[in-house]
Amino acid sequence: MASGQGSNFEALVQASRGDLEAEICCLVVNNPGCGAQQKAERHGIASVVLNHRDYASREDLDRALIETFRSQGVEVVVMAGWMRIVTPLLIDAFQNRLINIHPSILPSFRGMDAVGQALRAGVSITGCSAHLVTEEVDAGAVICQAAVPVLAGDDTASLSARIHAQEHTMYPWAVALLGQQLRNAQG
Ligand code: GRF
Repeated sequence: MASGQGSNFEALVQASRGDLEAEICCLVVNNPGCGAQQKAERHGIASVVLNHRDYASREDLDRALIETFRSQGVEVVVMAGWMRIVTPLLIDAFQNRLINIHPSILPSFRGMDAVGQALRAGVSITGCSAHLVTEEVDAGAVICQAAVPVLAGDDTASLSARIHAQEHTMYPWAVALLGQQLRNAQG
């Protein structure tokens, strides 16, 4: 699931064509024509547009998401820059199988503008976290995290770029770890 440029989506696609034992069966975007959708097209991955503007409520959008994923036999749902709040409908339908990536070391700097929050707080280390999605935003169990230094003179753009680079390495690991956990649970 993506809303924006889709660099994490692309990192997952590349990993799935390398060491990551996962098949990316489809991308869902809420912004038609966004960078993520263009990347899907370039990589030959099917994309589905579920434009939130076409749905009367968050629940209606989540019902459409669930239907899309179920019809494709999706086992794990990966939010990669999905800029909408999801409801318990989606969370319960994919309990422990719905993950998100956030540009901070959670539980620090939850919510919007995590990179700006870190800069304003004056921390010397921030980073990124992959976590299970729960009703409370950016509060689910952490799967893995990577640390990123804040350097003198950093602004939002430079720090975001450094965090993004770590995200691209870390998110495929998070998917692999979750897959391992699910396989272990199945025996
Ligand atoms: C990432 O920084 C991620 O942490 C946040 O949204 C951003 C998505 O970037 N949730 P991209 O679209 O994958 O490039």
